[in-house]
Amino acid sequence: MTAFEPRVFSGVQPTGNLHLGNYLGAVSRFVPLQDQMPSVYCVVDLHAITVWQDPAELMRATREVTAAYLAAGVDPKKAIIFNQSQVKEHSELAWMFNCIARMGWLRRMTQFKEKAGKNAENASVGLFAYPNLMAADILAYRATHVPVGDDQKQHLELTRDIAQKFNNDYAERIVELGLGVTNPEPTPESPAELYFPLPEPLIAGPATRIMSLRDGSKKMSKSDPSDLSRINLNDDAETIAKKIKKAKTDPDALPSEVEGLKDRLEADNLVGIYAALAGTTKADVLKEYGGQQFSAFKPALSDLAVEKLAPMTGEIRRLVADPTAIDAVLKDGAERAAAIAEPVLHDVRRIFGFVEARFGR
Ligand code: TYM
Repeated sequence: MTAFEPRVFSGVQPTGNLHLGNYLGAVSRFVPLQDQMPSVYCVVDLHAITVWQDPAELMRATREVTAAYLAAGVDPKKAIIFNQSQVKEHSELAWMFNCIARMGWLRRMTQFKEKAGKNAENASVGLFAYPNLMAADILAYRATHVPVGDDQKQHLELTRDIAQKFNNDYAERIVELGLGVTNPEPTPESPAELYFPLPEPLIAGPATRIMSLRDGSKKMSKSDPSDLSRINLNDDAETIAKKIKKAKTDPDALPSEVEGLKDRLEADNLVGIYAALAGTTKADVLKEYGGQQFSAFKPALSDLAVEKLAPMTGEIRRLVADPTAIDAVLKDGAERAAAIAEPVLHDVRRIFGFVEARFGR
């Protein structure tokens, strides 16, 4: 093969409520991509269990994330939608990557440090190895593009490091088996033929890092104890309006230029949210609202948020009421996903030197 076929892969954890950050930073961006390249969107339930999950709640949340993909406009006829645990190749490749990635690489992961907190000795081994499973998710499809929020950047770099080390460690074997793809940019560190692509993170637009509505220095997150810190995708119009009204701001009017948002974290965040919801840029938002007080900007933001989110939240509610229909989407998606990942794992087993007697190889 002379080039990797372009393919998108991304995932969302079925833990807690989906919020505006997940939507603007990731899910909303899945929709246009499905028309540009083959796309695979996963509900990563195996990642969820790196911390304790109540089983009934995990099932509910898995179907809710699936509903959110659909309600946002991901078309299950075009894109593949499935839950990770149903395609066993993810777990298998993750194990192999446990043997490729180095302890030192994983120790540097800031998200592990944040999630494990002070008591890292008591964190699950899975939480530590989490990024290896994420690399397996992406590379089991030899995906080339990964739309995510800014907080996943370090995990994507690790994915590239794993792909690169595998390609290097097994360079000769990949050529010998005729499984290589021509490397467009060979270097002393990167051989002429590759098995895995080095996937590109797609982190762009005004919403790569939506911050808490209560504290502009903290990321909007499912785990924040204050529900006022985030807009959940299942909030009703009244709740959305209340949360925006209570959002922390400073006493000054909005600036007319993006420069003026520097050191004004909360203002920057609200303008970014407006821009992302309206599909414009912060500069354009400030052209319209520069010089105005938050007392005028917040109601406009609230109206826009309700206008954009209410149809979707209604659709999520409608979809989760019919779990059989959601499960049919997940079943079909898992079958199509497995059809891509299974041959990749056959290749990878052969590359490692596992005897595939069961398959006559
Ligand atoms: P998760 O479930 O924490 O978040 C899902 C997506 O939402 C983005 N996101 C945000 N974007 C902007 N502002 C925020 N405040 C915000 N909070 C979350 C995340 O960046 C992510 O894109 N490890 C991943 C899931 C995963 C994955 C993958 C992603 C597993 N395997 C393979 C891509 C490819 C995670 O925990 O996302």
